[in-house]
Amino acid sequence: MNRIAVLTSGGDAPGMNAAIRAVVRKGHHHGLEVIGVRRGYTGLIQGDFTPMDLGSVGDIIHRGGTVLYSDRSSLFKTPEGQARAVENLKNEGIDGLVVIGGDGSFRGAQKLTQQGFPTVGVPGTIDNDIAGTDYTIGFDTAVNTVIKCIDQIRDTATSHERTYIVEVMGRDAGDIALWSGLADGAESILIPEAPHNLDDIVQRLERGNRRGKRHSIIIVAEGVGSGVDIGRQIKDKTGMETRVTVLGHIQRGGSPTAFDRVLASRMGAKAVDLLIDGEKDQMVAICKNAIVGVDFDKAFSMKHQPDMAMYDLAGILAI
Ligand code: F6P
Repeated sequence: MNRIAVLTSGGDAPGMNAAIRAVVRKGHHHGLEVIGVRRGYTGLIQGDFTPMDLGSVGDIIHRGGTVLYSDRSSLFKTPEGQARAVENLKNEGIDGLVVIGGDGSFRGAQKLTQQGFPTVGVPGTIDNDIAGTDYTIGFDTAVNTVIKCIDQIRDTATSHERTYIVEVMGRDAGDIALWSGLADGAESILIPEAPHNLDDIVQRLERGNRRGKRHSIIIVAEGVGSGVDIGRQIKDKTGMETRVTVLGHIQRGGSPTAFDRVLASRMGAKAVDLLIDGEKDQMVAICKNAIVGVDFDKAFSMKHQPDMAMYDLAGILAI
């Protein structure tokens, strides 16, 4: 193995830059040339390659976003797009590829391995929705962003004695809602993995009211539905003054936390080791704090689940 490439794909996540840095520096440590691919699979198809020396990744470990840019490519989903990508990689003399991204990006990575091109995945998404790894890069930062926002919402919620519904990201997963809800003492947390009953939520609000509680925070994962709709229903049922905040893409930006920088550094370095060891169809994962390789097929056969014991605990503590 002489030359490897790295790309970021799908929704960006804080810590992707730290992962790119780790791939480049670990690659150079082993005497490899490292090539950056701009704009994910789109850049792979267009041959948008840039050599990455040690200095090219200086001063990025603390930056959100991705210096390689990101994209969701529909052309790469076609056999023609995949064939062109492999051809470009081979023409550039590249022997292995590191794909930093989420589940959809890993499905794309596996298409390359199926065409005989060694590819390794590094889980980078704020959603924490990849089965086979305890955490994904960006999740911790997103949760910290959410709790900072909710702390601020709580100030004004207290002043005006209102009920706030906060909608958070996560696609089909409830991890961001669950972690930020437990960290922030939210009165109710609505996640797609657990059924909810609006009447229970209303009863909980009214019980709190009777105990003298003057404001409440309800967190809704986007996978459950629209926070605006849920807010309207709660207002209709309780007559309480409610406001809805949809946090949106603010959750995807910002300087990565120490946890995400360390995770990204460990995972990026492991991806290089896997390629050097001849692995070609794996993703990097963190399992009980060990950084390991997991076969894509094994990861794809599992279903991601948030920690439901944590969900139950949040319910108990919020009473
Ligand atoms: O996967 C990351 C994520 O931010 C999800 O939480 C969200 O549903 C989606 O991407 C938003 O995608 P876009 O940036 O295309 O609006």
